Amino acid sequence: MSSKLFSPFELRGLTLPNRIVVSPMCQYCVEDGVVGDWHRVHLGMLANSGAGLLIVEATAVTPQGRISPGCAGLYNDETEAGFARVLETVRAVGSARLGIQLGHSGRKGSTAAPWVGRGPVAREDGGWDVVGPSPLAFTEDWLVPEQLDRAGMDDIRDAFVSATGRAASLGFEFLEMHSAHGYLLSSFVSPLSNRREDGYGGTRENRMRFPLEVAAAMRAAWPSDRPMSARINGSDWVEGGWTPDDAVAYAAALKDVGVDIVTVSSGGIDPRQQVPVKPGYQVPIAAKVRKEAGIPTIAVGLITDPHQAESIVADGDADMVALARGMLFNPRWGNHAAVTLGVEVDYPPQYQRARPESWPPAKDSVAG
Ligand SMILES: Cc1cc2nc3c(=O)[nH]c(=O)nc-3n(C[C@H](O)[C@H](O)[C@H](O)COP(=O)(O)O)c2cc1C
Repeated sequence: MSSKLFSPFELRGLTLPNRIVVSPMCQYCVEDGVVGDWHRVHLGMLANSGAGLLIVEATAVTPQGRISPGCAGLYNDETEAGFARVLETVRAVGSARLGIQLGHSGRKGSTAAPWVGRGPVAREDGGWDVVGPSPLAFTEDWLVPEQLDRAGMDDIRDAFVSATGRAASLGFEFLEMHSAHGYLLSSFVSPLSNRREDGYGGTRENRMRFPLEVAAAMRAAWPSDRPMSARINGSDWVEGGWTPDDAVAYAAALKDVGVDIVTVSSGGIDPRQQVPVKPGYQVPIAAKVRKEAGIPTIAVGLITDPHQAESIVADGDADMVALARGMLFNPRWGNHAAVTLGVEVDYPPQYQRARPESWPPAKDSVAG
């Protein structure tokens, strides 16, 4: 069968073998931002999932930009060296092309890992002061951010640029700017978290100004033959918040500063959100952004079934699909999807004997 999901996709100088992406996923388990053994195995495993592109988790551009004290960073020589060691293994064992998501947590920083409750971490327990567009906490129990002034914004923009340079030296082939889920850049664009009265608040154009400055500066620091993406919110899912029309305008402006593709996610900006969770719930917004902003999109969110993934790409709703939980649950998802869709894909020689045609029960257990 001819499959769109398993057709190559070109962005600038990068040709991906298929349209399956491992979505960035924080692991909350490193010290001082330096990735190590867990990431070597975790990313090595996902680099053999059958996905063409593996995007490394939200990686902080400054220590304060981490979400939790256990989050990965790329802000000094030690954090860069940690990635260099991990990538050496990942490249030796896996075939996915490697991307990285760079981000700053903003007012959602200094929080605990999900398995210890996500709440704010006090200074004496390794937490830190947080910053944001306006002095508004995410909820009343979370830290009130210090409002960034222009000097603070310059420092953060420069940190994104410096991390971009480190990502380029590490040989990442794909770069994603994190501007979703209520973290710093998305808290600038949303009217719910940005109440500034200067040139960076008020109108949508003003609210987008700082994230667009960051995107333009990252693009200038990123090699011109390598693609750059931005993960954006398609909706805040709160009355009076960011909408799909806003996402179209933002995606178009990102395209103008050289961003090649956007991942359309949503939510995380305000605890009052009412997310209409169901399979592929964010796909219609990815389709709208693709059509109306004229930029390629990656769809994400409850995409779990190979036929569903195939139709998203074949129907032109998105150019690629990203999976997060589905990939952790089944780290061979891409290879299993190929069996389901009747497509032959390469296996590492060590795993050749797992090919369903040489071991028929495998086909019965994954093909749907
Ligand atoms: C463990 C975990 C960690 C995540 N970390 C990130 C992250 O670092 N950056 C990000 O943009 N999204 C992150 N997400 C969101 C996912 O990338 C994805 O958008 C979301 O889980 C919906 O996709 P799914 O239904 O396939 O899981 C995370 C999700 C999970 C489950």
